[in-house]
Amino acid sequence: MKFIRQFHIILILIWAPTLVFGVKESLFKTCENSGFCHRNKYFAESIKNEGSNYQSRYSIAPESILIESKLNTKIIHGQIIKDIPTLAEDFILPFELSILEGNNIRFTINEEQRHIADIKAINITNYRYNQTSDWAFVTSELPYLAENLFKVEIDQSKSEVIVHYGESNEYKAILTFNPVTLTVFYNDIPQVIANHQNFFNFEHWRPKESNYEHLTVEETDYGMFEDHFVDSENDKIPLGPESIALDFTFKGFKNLYGIPEHADSLNLKDTTDSDQPYRLYNVDIFEYETNSRMAMYGAIPLLLAVKPEISLGLFWINGADTFINVDKTSNEEDSSTHWISENGVLDFMIIIDKTPANINYNYGLITGFTQLPPLFSLGYHQCRWNYNDEKDVLDVNQLMDKHQFPYDTIWLDIEYTDQKKYFTWDKHKFPSPKQLLKSLDHTGRNLVIIIDPHLKTNYFFSDEVIKKQACINDSKNTTFYGHCWPGESVWIDTFNPTSQPIWDSQFEWNNEFFGLDSSNVFLWNDMNEPSVFNGPETSAPKDNIHFGGWEHRSVHNIYGLTYHEATYESLIKRTKGNTNRTRPFILTRSYFAGSQRTAAMWTGDNMSKWEYLKISIPMVLTSNIVNMPFSGADVGGFFGNPSKELLTRWYQAGIWYPFFRAHAHIDARRREPWIAGEPYTSIMRDAVLLRYALLPTLYTAFYESSKTGIPIFKPIFYEALTNPKSYSIDDEFFFGNSGLLVKPVTDEGADRHEIYIPDTEVYYDYTNRSLPSINVYKLDEPGYIKKDISLQDIPALIKGGHIISLKERYRRSTRLMVNDPYTLIIALNNNGVAEGQLYIDDGESFEFENSGELALVKFSATESTINSQILEINDTFKQKISSIKIEKIIILNSKSNKSIESISIKQGDEEWQAKFDGTVDKKTIIHNAKIKVSESWDIQLIYEPDHDEL
Ligand code: NOJ
Repeated sequence: MKFIRQFHIILILIWAPTLVFGVKESLFKTCENSGFCHRNKYFAESIKNEGSNYQSRYSIAPESILIESKLNTKIIHGQIIKDIPTLAEDFILPFELSILEGNNIRFTINEEQRHIADIKAINITNYRYNQTSDWAFVTSELPYLAENLFKVEIDQSKSEVIVHYGESNEYKAILTFNPVTLTVFYNDIPQVIANHQNFFNFEHWRPKESNYEHLTVEETDYGMFEDHFVDSENDKIPLGPESIALDFTFKGFKNLYGIPEHADSLNLKDTTDSDQPYRLYNVDIFEYETNSRMAMYGAIPLLLAVKPEISLGLFWINGADTFINVDKTSNEEDSSTHWISENGVLDFMIIIDKTPANINYNYGLITGFTQLPPLFSLGYHQCRWNYNDEKDVLDVNQLMDKHQFPYDTIWLDIEYTDQKKYFTWDKHKFPSPKQLLKSLDHTGRNLVIIIDPHLKTNYFFSDEVIKKQACINDSKNTTFYGHCWPGESVWIDTFNPTSQPIWDSQFEWNNEFFGLDSSNVFLWNDMNEPSVFNGPETSAPKDNIHFGGWEHRSVHNIYGLTYHEATYESLIKRTKGNTNRTRPFILTRSYFAGSQRTAAMWTGDNMSKWEYLKISIPMVLTSNIVNMPFSGADVGGFFGNPSKELLTRWYQAGIWYPFFRAHAHIDARRREPWIAGEPYTSIMRDAVLLRYALLPTLYTAFYESSKTGIPIFKPIFYEALTNPKSYSIDDEFFFGNSGLLVKPVTDEGADRHEIYIPDTEVYYDYTNRSLPSINVYKLDEPGYIKKDISLQDIPALIKGGHIISLKERYRRSTRLMVNDPYTLIIALNNNGVAEGQLYIDDGESFEFENSGELALVKFSATESTINSQILEINDTFKQKISSIKIEKIIILNSKSNKSIESISIKQGDEEWQAKFDGTVDKKTIIHNAKIKVSESWDIQLIYEPDHDEL
């Protein structure tokens, strides 16, 4: 009965968005009504109340310390003893301390083998889940730091272990035994202390009957063996309390970031006064609210703490339901966080380095960097729920051309299938998908189709998955049935290796569904939190069982990643042996640490309201600073109908999202960009054209991020670490390393716009890319500049010191731009110099990796010289791009008031005079430069002598 009621409500919520407003908070747990969070909050309060009298129950047994030398490294082992006064027996928690490449220190605490006999009868694995890192880390072989780079000491009194590490021993970690704390120092200054507040808690296994003997005075037994939340009452919590919790004090840090996904500010908020800690629990949150710490679709448990001279990353390696309290107010200098997870081993990594960019790099060494996406996927994506049939798709395709909108991909949402049976087509609406793909291909376009993890019961594919026992199971270890779009469904268990070949079979070239004979079809993996309409919190019951006997509780936040990784694997296999190997493109809604390796994400079901446009910027920024740069928000807003102005402003902002897609709910009115009419259509077109012009810069930013983890949508503070004000700016951003500083307009009716310039460098106005009579801004101190704006304005500046590359011709799609010539914009800085990088490959295949078919070009300029140096290229690729030219060079020089007499260009043995427009308003343009991008070159600028010099 209850199920029917809940299902009914959810269906109403999903299908009639106009009837309800805002998220149904009662569908989701809070810390108060989550047993494990409630208990740890209580525990922390008790400890705080006891103040300095509190004597921790945890201590390290000195005699347990063992230093193991293995794999050319050292690992420190030991045991934490948990002493419960009422029990004779102590509980043993073995730990491991190790140092990984990038000077990442990792600490892991487990629980000694539990009393298996007592819990053998049930179908679940009874030890703690310790495989989160297997999914999150890039390789299973851990990149340990070499033994010669660190030294371990145990102090004389045997009360602490000291580890010195790093190239010049700049790092030190001290692990104290009683109380148990871990302090990490950089250059002898403490940066972070784990368990400074004694909130460390590790709920050991105990039988329900004798639970009361195991409880200490600081504890409450709330929800230890039953779930009090109304929709989870069936969860019997078979393993009892298993939570883990720990606090971290960040010394001298007031600016904390990361731990997505939340629709909130970039700089994390203090949560001490609210009942809403940040929650990491992947859920399909319907009509999420802005300025909220509620859980959303994805989870990356990486927190960044930043101060001018040092940055710190805390990676909490756990995929279970997690709450994080942030305290920025109790101490003037420091901040602290309290992490509480429902179960699993306690496992974390501390990364310390000079800059946040270095943290991105070091974290990337462990979890991997973003894949270099195929170039088309950086173009504009046209999506809605749904393009109805083949004719609709082809009409839109044609209208895009008619209105001269470049775009690369059209998307098919769930209605293309036969009754939401994935891996089938609705044959009435899509009778000839092969032909459809060919027609799209003909205009250089691609198709993305959706495949979700819920599988309608009673059709060939779900039958096979059930037969091969590759489904997620219920708590009785039999196939779990729930409801999603198709009605009754089962869920593929992508933790189960059996699933991969079954999944692969649907992507093979000769498969009826996907054997589309074509390489212009790509994937969208949605609802993979997983979304279960009749499940607690719209997800799977926590006592469901996955492969290996793991409770869903232990792996919930990782499931989405396993699902999109399975798709990636299938796509890679599909392209093997095919000479046209295209890099896969997958969009996922749910994600975890490591998802950046194989997928892009978007911020889910936002609304067509100004506040959602506004919040999309900190959300995409946060995603970028936790190494998941390929991210964006639904342009136009998913639910509702945007005003023409809002839609236009959203396109103007969306062109800067690393992932740029317009999308709309099935009930939303059609809003392809020509529908709004003039002047809106032309303004949106100009925005999209700017995106396409900047693709060489964006692709280069992706290349850099794929090597270093540097954000593409980059917070201002990354380039202004000494400016405290920059730490809270989250309505503007730098576009990769290009020097483009952008602040989208996110206010209705705006006619005045302020942009914060975080330093005293010179900035050139790039609003609308027209580079009109150049406005140059050079402030004596960081501050706001003000501009009058109109609807067509896309406010942006170029920071002096940068050289950016563009392709300016209008083409229908990226594929048709390949041989187009480049334009360079050189923005000289206060010292009259500039630099930039350009990365080129075929934009499609893996040849850049397999046979080095790529070009990496470095440009440098002074007031009188410009040159290009080829850093990397091989002969084959040089040949391939030999006809591509640099056509136009725009030189911006804030200081120049001299006229240029002549410009000579030298490439190889040839030298020629360039045609140019003289220095007009600090701008010189070289036309028709005829320079090959594939070879080095030099330019000399000769100025007319000054009057004084005459
Ligand atoms: C939920 C997704 O967030 C949305 O983008 C999609 O259109 C619907 N599912 C239908 O597939």
